[in-house]
Amino acid sequence: MKTILITGGAGFVGSALALELKAKHSDFTLFCLDNLKRRGSELNIPRLKRAGIEFIHGDIRNKEDFDGLPPIDLIIEASAEPSVLAGLNSTPDYLLNTNLVGTINCLNFALKNKSAFIFLSTSRIYPIKNLEKINYTEDNTRFTVSPIQTLLGVSEKGISENFPLNGSRSLYGTSKLTSELIIQEYQEFYGLRTVINRCGVLTGPWQMGKVDQGVVVLWAARHFWKKGLSYIGYGGTGKQVRDILHTKDLFRLVDWQIQNIDRINGDTFNVGGSNEVSLSLLELTLLCEKITGNTIPISSIAETRQADIPVYITDNSKISAISGWKPEIKPLQIMTEIFTWIGENEKDLESILK
Ligand SMILES: NC(=O)c1ccc[n+]([C@@H]2O[C@H](COP(=O)([O-])OP(=O)(O)OC[C@H]3O[C@@H](n4cnc5c(N)ncnc54)[C@H](O)[C@@H]3O)[C@@H](O)[C@H]2O)c1
Repeated sequence: MKTILITGGAGFVGSALALELKAKHSDFTLFCLDNLKRRGSELNIPRLKRAGIEFIHGDIRNKEDFDGLPPIDLIIEASAEPSVLAGLNSTPDYLLNTNLVGTINCLNFALKNKSAFIFLSTSRIYPIKNLEKINYTEDNTRFTVSPIQTLLGVSEKGISENFPLNGSRSLYGTSKLTSELIIQEYQEFYGLRTVINRCGVLTGPWQMGKVDQGVVVLWAARHFWKKGLSYIGYGGTGKQVRDILHTKDLFRLVDWQIQNIDRINGDTFNVGGSNEVSLSLLELTLLCEKITGNTIPISSIAETRQADIPVYITDNSKISAISGWKPEIKPLQIMTEIFTWIGENEKDLESILK
């Protein structure tokens, strides 16, 4: 598995995986295909080039954009419209054409080459109403998942792969789940080797955080440039919780999966920071204040936003049992790295993050 195509390869996750893979395996040949739809992805092109990774300006919605690529051993599908709000107040065309039709184009290209296929899915495939049924307690700075639950697939460790899938989940989540189902068919009936990772919040340096996607970097950027923020929903106290996973921790897992693809072929895993690497917005604020020394105005909007959820923690038990992998990089280190990156690239990032 030495020739790898990463779609969305100039994006946050795609470029991070490409750079880490090349740094660890200098004999790998990597192609990063991206249409540069996401603002800031263009900043990754020189970084990829410097590392000896070929950038291809292409769009997964166009089958023709795969022509001209050499035989590929593995595709990592990391291109997407990744916003959970996409399509809610506008047409869902771009979302569906990229996250669903585009993924099918990637699958067909994989089939042609007999490439293995690793798909970056999302925790957002789990339905909103079911996530809202999770029992949690309200503590001083956060909501905490309770030990006693009524739904299958949730415990104090978080949400596992058995969590019920009936109900709506946002157009974003649906586009990813539909892709998952098609991937399973390609695996079963066409013999494609596939792995699906349902990721919780991913973060780290080089994430072009915005209000609807990449909240951790958005929070850091607002503290860095001393701009205001709001706690939105659940009473406006900022106690909603997510686990967060550094892309370096994700890389360690994907690297293991590449080496062990036959062992986990056809499998689906929840992948995230787990309880050990989780934060409420309020705790995120405290961390940002501690690192920067800046205190910014944060208003409260009690009303909950569409498609929002109070708490999401990944139960990594399945993937950890098979691979021994677990997240290692803790919130303080993640936030310190993000602030260092913003500080070092202030000029380039100002027009994107400020
Ligand atoms: N960041 C997270 O917290 C998170 C969590 C769970 C899952 N994911 C998944 O991980 C993957 C990567 O997300 P990300 O955070 O790096 O987002 P990102 O927006 O930084 O990267 C996605 C890249 O895809 C590119 N792209 C969009 N449409 C395209 C198209 N039609 N053709 C080619 N390229 C296209 C964008 O320009 C961008 O560079 C996505 O599949 C996303 O659903 C991300």
